[in-house]
Amino acid sequence: MIITVTLNPALDKTAELDILRPGELNRLKNIVVDAGGKGINVSKMVAALGGRTVATGFAGGSGGEEIIRALSIEDIATDFVKVDGLTRTNLKVLDQATRLTELNEPGVMVTEREAESLIKKLAGYANADAIFALSGSLCQGVEIEFYARLIRMIHNGGGIAFLDADGEAFRAALEEKPDFIKPNRYELMDYYQVSGNMELKELAELCVRLRSGGVGKIAASMGAEGALFAGGDEIIYAPGIPVRAHSAVGAGDSMTGAFAYGLERNLSWRETCALALASSAGAAATAGTKPPDRRLVEELREKVQLHSVKI
Ligand SMILES: Nc1ncnc2c1ncn2[C@@H]1O[C@H](COP(=O)(O)OP(=O)(O)OP(=O)(O)O)[C@@H](O)[C@H]1O
Ligand SMILES: [Mg+2]
Repeated sequence: MIITVTLNPALDKTAELDILRPGELNRLKNIVVDAGGKGINVSKMVAALGGRTVATGFAGGSGGEEIIRALSIEDIATDFVKVDGLTRTNLKVLDQATRLTELNEPGVMVTEREAESLIKKLAGYANADAIFALSGSLCQGVEIEFYARLIRMIHNGGGIAFLDADGEAFRAALEEKPDFIKPNRYELMDYYQVSGNMELKELAELCVRLRSGGVGKIAASMGAEGALFAGGDEIIYAPGIPVRAHSAVGAGDSMTGAFAYGLERNLSWRETCALALASSAGAAATAGTKPPDRRLVEELREKVQLHSVKI
């Protein structure tokens, strides 16, 4: 079972209007709502591949209810801690000139008690068959070591912990040696406080350094240029698959979802890397935060190349 954790989900609402007039009444049309958040994107990818997943985290207010409802329509099981704070709604408004205006609410705030009840709930899932994906930023009200605590709890129960976070929360969580991380190039460079243009070989060296610090496996993604995978004895470079990119938002989450799926299905590391690259390219080629459909992923998988990187 793949349990995803989204501490700070969002109800993504997209709407259209002819002309946006500040200071006046604006009537929206073609309103579409969708459940957003990085862990939720991971669940969507797992479900698209045919895997078993449950989406968890904090949900509050009508936005929280709508997220749960939207996921149930997509047949994704949920088990959120209901909180008194309000789950954010992010409104994206597209006008006739295809200009995008975004109105984002602040994220949910949780109490210490609510945070403890999430830990308790997740502990109930933490056994040897559990793969947890902790994805995205922390929410207000939890300490910076929250992911670190969750990883410790998961490991104590015999489960596997995937982590996709950045900044201080990422740094603190690495102390607990997650089993898999998926930084993008910039997050990796930020962690090591390096800047400028990095060559593939240098990025590969950063992955080796991270692994020697105890991180299990790493997928370092590089947008359209593809990804580096450090898992087995070799480092693999997979060039990006040329696609007509519609929305790269969530492409990294699709990659994480495919890795969790591959592990759950006992696919080999190379097979999993190929599936993950194809899934992320499929996500980039698919509008919005929708996961790519399975057929597209299978088609793209034929185009994946895996090269061994010498460092
Ligand atoms: N324009 C693109 N064309 C083809 N593949 C892409 C493109 N953008 C992203 N991808 C695929 O998606 C993977 C992840 O993308 P990226 O490095 O942008 O992740 P990310 O920054 O973590 O994204 P996010 O956190 O928004 O999900 C890449 O390794 C690549 O395989
Ligand atoms: Mg990312």
